[in-house]
Amino acid sequence: MSGCPFMGRRLQHTFNELSMEDKNGDCAQDGLNKASKGGLIYGDYLRLDKVLDAQVLQSEVKGNKIHDEHLFIVTHQAYELWFKQILWELDSVREIFQNGHVRDERNMLKVVTRIHRISIILKLLVEQFSVLETMTPLDFFDFREYLNPASGFQSLQFRLLENKIGVPESLRVPYNRRHYRDNFKGKENEMLLKSEEEPALLGLVEAWLERTPGLEETGFNFWGKLQANIFQGLEEECQQTKGKPDSEDKEEKLAELQKQKELFTALFDEKRHEHLVSKGDRRLSYKALKGALMIYFYREEPRFQVPFQMLTSLMDIDILMTKWRYNHVCMVHRMIGSKSGTGGSSGYQYLRSTVSDRYKVFVDLFNLSTYLVPRHWVPRLNPNVHKFLYTAECCDSSYFSSDDSD
Ligand code: HEM
Repeated sequence: MSGCPFMGRRLQHTFNELSMEDKNGDCAQDGLNKASKGGLIYGDYLRLDKVLDAQVLQSEVKGNKIHDEHLFIVTHQAYELWFKQILWELDSVREIFQNGHVRDERNMLKVVTRIHRISIILKLLVEQFSVLETMTPLDFFDFREYLNPASGFQSLQFRLLENKIGVPESLRVPYNRRHYRDNFKGKENEMLLKSEEEPALLGLVEAWLERTPGLEETGFNFWGKLQANIFQGLEEECQQTKGKPDSEDKEEKLAELQKQKELFTALFDEKRHEHLVSKGDRRLSYKALKGALMIYFYREEPRFQVPFQMLTSLMDIDILMTKWRYNHVCMVHRMIGSKSGTGGSSGYQYLRSTVSDRYKVFVDLFNLSTYLVPRHWVPRLNPNVHKFLYTAECCDSSYFSSDDSD
């Protein structure tokens, strides 16, 4: 009991029930805590005076207190607090990348842990809509007019989050031909502009992937070997199939193999990749894409386990952001049908169009699964060397030495 300063009888009161005298810190509990510990107390440490005093019901201000507006406010505030935590983690990860600290691979665990933490918070946020959904559309209707023209469009932290992960301005869904930054003035507008100009997580991950050891053409030459193995494998399968007696199956199998050849010819065509990047259909550089595929194939090697976890968590973030958008739009549909939003968009229609791949920052990582091939087509690493390498620069030639048997 002695370690917990807020287990006292006074805490059975909610903050709102406290008298002004209490809020000013003149209450008996404060006195007790200060006296017994002589230091910081719970409420002061957490600045609960500010946090718990920040629920101002517009309906109450207008003299028509609506019970559910409290839930509406608390829910939004909880989202914003978690957005703040996500930005905190995201900024720290970007800093590690930007300072080049990621070259020391021991820092990768920190990066991966924080990226994973972001995904866990997002999971919570995806679920959190269900609490607000206990409010009926009619209850919402009772106080909606008081919010006008406030809107989620004005959530600075949400836009910062999108920008810092790597949603480009060019891929945003436009609404009423307005720029998303028009909703923000002064310092907020500047913060957004800065977040657009600074390196986003996508660009930083891209640079890191480009350094994947084993890509060097003069060394292990993963890409060259992979290309040779794949086309040799496909050719062998073709010859085997052609040698079989004629049948419907045989025709289908040959057509399928032809499709596979075209698919891989496209993968190994750098110019085509650049074209897809220019259209926004691919986001990573060609070299980074090679690095990512290499991590996919060698994920069980100690050297690639943490990078593989990293790629998995990045995809989790994309999936959870998409689920967030989806759950939000479902709730909006339920609450306001097809009425327009308080921020001036078409509401449901606009939000529905944001649940799309254009907002998936790491879309290339998802598409890599298209290019997975049988394990025996993957170029073999030198089988004698299975030791953990600590630094990215240390792309030990013996680890990636050509094993000409492949
Ligand atoms: C009854 C509940 C809610 C309704 C009816 C609602 C409605 C809307 C509508 C109609 C929009 C489109 C912009 C506009 O024209 O106003 C929007 C955008 C947005 N809302 Fe909500 N919302 C609700 C709850 C929430 C909650 C709990 C959050 C959490 C922070 C949130 C965050 C956002 C964000 C960030 C946007 C911008 C999305 C984008 O442009 O991609 N909303 N909301």
